[in-house]
Amino acid sequence: MPKKIQARKSSIHGNGVFAVADIKKGARVIEYKGKRRTHAEVDADDTGDVESGHTFLFTLNDDYVIDANHKGNDARWINHSCDPNCEAVIAEAEGDDRAADKVLIEALRDIKPGEELTYNYGITLAERHTARLKKIWECRCGSPKCTGTMLQPKR
Ligand SMILES: C[S@@+](CC[C@H](N)C(=O)[O-])C[C@H]1O[C@@H](n2cnc3c(N)ncnc32)[C@H](O)[C@@H]1O
Ligand SMILES: [Zn+2]
Repeated sequence: MPKKIQARKSSIHGNGVFAVADIKKGARVIEYKGKRRTHAEVDADDTGDVESGHTFLFTLNDDYVIDANHKGNDARWINHSCDPNCEAVIAEAEGDDRAADKVLIEALRDIKPGEELTYNYGITLAERHTARLKKIWECRCGSPKCTGTMLQPKR
């Protein structure tokens, strides 16, 4: 099947992922691939440094984080938006092996060639979301609905 997406430079940040063909609402676009690492492993080094404002980590479940710095695919280039056209869905595997769970990026609406793919990262930090941290995690999605930060309100 011809490729429906392509990674290239984005006006939001760095590289992004763009549609190169029609993508239908509800379509599974790509899996967010990467190495399964425990939260403790990730916390023990600087891959999850909240001061950097940059991450290739995706929280999979209570046990594991997907680290797309290792064995990642093009999904690691998809940027965040406050008004996204895709969503990240956790697909729980049968059985007890939580490392077998997956993250699937699916279209929330029909997407046309040339449109950048985005989803809401849903990032909440363990620490208080101070103005300083909101600035470090500043959002440049460009949507009229942009909250100005990738950090989400805590519930
Ligand atoms: C999974 S990477 C996405 C690929 C990224 N554009 C790159 O070239 O490395 C996530 C990082 O991209 C940047 N990013 C993604 N969406 C953004 C947005 N809406 N505004 C500003 N930076 C964004 C942030 O640094 C974020 O931590
Ligand atoms: Zn935004």
